[in-house]
Amino acid sequence: MTSHVATVAFRGIEAVPVDVQVQITPGMPAFTLVGLPDKAVAESRERVRAALTAIGLALPAKRITVNLAPADLPKEGSHYDLPIAIGLMAALGIIPSEFLERYTVLGELSLDGSITAVAGSLPAAVGANARGHGLICPGPCGAEAAWAGEAVDILAPDTLVQLVNHFKGTQVLSRPRVIAADEPVKLPDLRDIKGQEVAKRALEVAAAGGHNLLMVGPPGSGKSMLAQRLPSILPPMDALEMLEVSMIASVAGALTGGTLSHRRPFRTPHHSASQAALVGGGQRALPGEMSLAHNGVLFLDELPEFQPKVLDSLRQPMETFQTVIARANHHVSYPARFQLVAAMNPCRCGHAGTPGHTCRRGPRCVDDYQARVSGPLLDRIDLQIEVPAVRALELSLPAPKEGSADVAARVARARAVQAGRYQSLGAAHLRLNAEADGELLESMALPDASGLSLLQDAAEMIGLTARGYHRVLRVARTLADLDGAGDVGRVHIAEALTFRQKLSTGRLAA
Ligand SMILES: Nc1ncnc2c1ncn2[C@@H]1O[C@H](COP(=O)(O)OP(=O)(O)OP(=O)(O)O)[C@@H](O)[C@H]1O
Ligand SMILES: [Mg+2]
Repeated sequence: MTSHVATVAFRGIEAVPVDVQVQITPGMPAFTLVGLPDKAVAESRERVRAALTAIGLALPAKRITVNLAPADLPKEGSHYDLPIAIGLMAALGIIPSEFLERYTVLGELSLDGSITAVAGSLPAAVGANARGHGLICPGPCGAEAAWAGEAVDILAPDTLVQLVNHFKGTQVLSRPRVIAADEPVKLPDLRDIKGQEVAKRALEVAAAGGHNLLMVGPPGSGKSMLAQRLPSILPPMDALEMLEVSMIASVAGALTGGTLSHRRPFRTPHHSASQAALVGGGQRALPGEMSLAHNGVLFLDELPEFQPKVLDSLRQPMETFQTVIARANHHVSYPARFQLVAAMNPCRCGHAGTPGHTCRRGPRCVDDYQARVSGPLLDRIDLQIEVPAVRALELSLPAPKEGSADVAARVARARAVQAGRYQSLGAAHLRLNAEADGELLESMALPDASGLSLLQDAAEMIGLTARGYHRVLRVARTLADLDGAGDVGRVHIAEALTFRQKLSTGRLAA
């Protein structure tokens, strides 16, 4: 007799159905596992055998074959233990197989028969629901899976015994409950920053339009401090965005305790990060920092200290909003719609451009350092600003009156204006000005006559490239949205041009 248990394989954040087939036939005692298992899946035989023994079930001295279908889909991870064990118990008649037709199963087994947490329970629950199934997942993952919807039948046993008892009807498992997230946390506030009005304004514009931002300045000028205050002015995520972010976190195994948050991700990988850490992949396909920053912010502090190869891997996801990882015989892709915020010193010694400072190595210090960041990457950064050192006098001033809450309210208003506009233009897949390009951008951001003449003059003078021209338009559109203005005017173009000045310290921008 062959028993069937439904489980999943993860392709990106998508849960692909996999059918676990277990057959017990007379013959030489053996336990064979087929269907492109990786090492973790192949080792599952030993865990399953031990876990079943622990609950008092010896495997029969027969030929046991487990097939993971479809056979050409690679299977990774340890979550096949539980479906295999359940398939075996069904084949042995311990669990009625008609119950199993209604469930998708995933979970890892300990040698003592307990069921331990695995990554990906949330996408698995969403996938199961789409197939009209319920989900059986490990106890610790129940709260996470419950987010897939009220209607999904979820069983989250901690041990194999609990599951068997549930099916026997001696101990019924109750549905796990979602854990409401977001106990208010105190984020660092913009009010802590003295002076730096230009940088604060740039941060507000970046938050409002979702623009990428680069800050260049000497050590201690407050760049890292500014970036860390961006989350406090970003609006919370809506339900759909939250689900997308949580699906990625779930596949990465980073959804601790099953709590979901409305706060946008803010990821700060260290500059020693490898390409696999940023893009995703590695021995087992996992989302990288770019995907973990989906719908939020990827903050790269000390930008030129990242390996140039790693930095260039940002370029493609910044245009396609997803990362694609090539595996041995297939591709995996993860969503990666992030806002890039970067900070750097102008040169190795850090003080180029500071009045009264002469660099010991002369202009080469600047050139060599800034050359580590490629032109095409810079080309994708709408806002590039200098953050000069704060003067001691400014630091002794009282804290500014305006804090993050006021700025956040303006940002939320500007974002609502943008969402409304893209809806009415029939481009509902866009939400923020930073994502608009080409014809659409020109149709909605073209300035009035005096603005246009300023833009043309500036384009002549600073030699704007086509991309540069569009970047000015994009930022000007956001400035107009912050102003509540229907059309882009001369003031907006003028201010947008200040955010892409030729930096006094080197070759960045243009
Ligand atoms: N505008 C400011 N208002 C108040 N404090 C400031 C300001 N700028 C800097 N500081 C103080 O200086 C410290 C250093 O700032 P921060 O770490 O942000 O500098 P940085 O520009 O990132 O420097 P580095 O280039 O070395 O990384 C902060 O912790 C803060 O105490
Ligand atoms: Mg810093």
